[in-house]
Amino acid sequence: MSFFEISKNVYWVGVKDWNRRMFDALIPLPRGTSYNSYLIVGEKKLLVDTVNPGFEGELKKNVDSIVGLENLDYLVMNHAEPDHAGAIPYVMGLNGKVKLLTTLKGAKMAQTYYNVPSDRINVVKGGDVLELGRKTLRFIEAPMLHWPETMFTYLQEDKILFSCDFFGAHLAEGFFDDDVEDLPVFAQKYFGEIMMPFKVMGKAALEKLKDFEVSIIAPSHGPIYKNPDKILGLYRGWVEGVTREKVVVVYVSMWGSTECMAQTISKTLLSEGVNVLEYNLSYADLGDLVKDLVDARAVVLAAPTVLNGAHPLMVYFLYLFNALRPPTKYCVILSSFGWAGGTVRQIKEAVGANLEILYVLDVNGRPNATDLANVVEAGRVLAKKVKGA
Ligand code: FEO
Repeated sequence: MSFFEISKNVYWVGVKDWNRRMFDALIPLPRGTSYNSYLIVGEKKLLVDTVNPGFEGELKKNVDSIVGLENLDYLVMNHAEPDHAGAIPYVMGLNGKVKLLTTLKGAKMAQTYYNVPSDRINVVKGGDVLELGRKTLRFIEAPMLHWPETMFTYLQEDKILFSCDFFGAHLAEGFFDDDVEDLPVFAQKYFGEIMMPFKVMGKAALEKLKDFEVSIIAPSHGPIYKNPDKILGLYRGWVEGVTREKVVVVYVSMWGSTECMAQTISKTLLSEGVNVLEYNLSYADLGDLVKDLVDARAVVLAAPTVLNGAHPLMVYFLYLFNALRPPTKYCVILSSFGWAGGTVRQIKEAVGANLEILYVLDVNGRPNATDLANVVEAGRVLAKKVKGA
């Protein structure tokens, strides 16, 4: 059993999943994650979100140590994804009176995914108020952050925003923001992995939040923000797509030719005073790479031709790059081939609509002195653009 009071009669009753190392079979979790569930005790008792399947018993123990699961009156589903909603059938199975509160789209999902009967769902919409007695909740619709049904719940008396995935971080450690020194790094990773494709919706949500005084942000993953100004400031920049003088060099190499070009352009950029992050796709941690795409102004894409197209690791990266919609503006393409090219065409087709391609170099075999001089020139052109933007 574990719980803690984050404000008077408001408790964290979630679980910490220290050993989880992958999310969605895609996102690395180097330091685990948490599934934050919150209990609000007024005259009526309400639970905000649940936990990942497999942790139902732990959630029950935590709630039982305060009020008893069977005494809950309401269960808020801010988001239908199983890491927060997966224990809903368990809770509603043990407590026959508890009502599920969710958006209209959430109601459909609760019925489809969790077999919740419609007569046990109360649909709420933005602006609706729920009086618990001594505690008052307001609901804020925040669609596509990051599913269609997502919403926030605001606790008026304590000025707490329960934001579900928005403002989240995949970290098991820490109760509050002060507890984790590199929390902004993990928050940026999380934004890049989950929220970056939905920047427009994120901006709209931040606009709505201007009407609320927020003293605490209680997301559904990672530490709770007792000092929300910093994360709010970071999110404002990220949803606006603010970029920095920063270039991400992404490469894959088979026999060293492409690597030689990638490393040469990295060194050139550094010597021009540009911040460079270099990622070899053979080893790169996807979370680290995506974190740097959140605010990089340019990307170098370097890959050899395999058969008649780009190396598959670059193809995979290009797919993710387009899906995640980073605010990156400029690009340089570097490639090498043995007897027939194809990579440059493929990369151009993939990113040409979204990025200004400043320089392309396609080398047959190992880059010679002239080729490397051209790479240096490409680096100078890119540095000028990145610093001048
Ligand atoms: Fe943490 Fe979208 O679930």
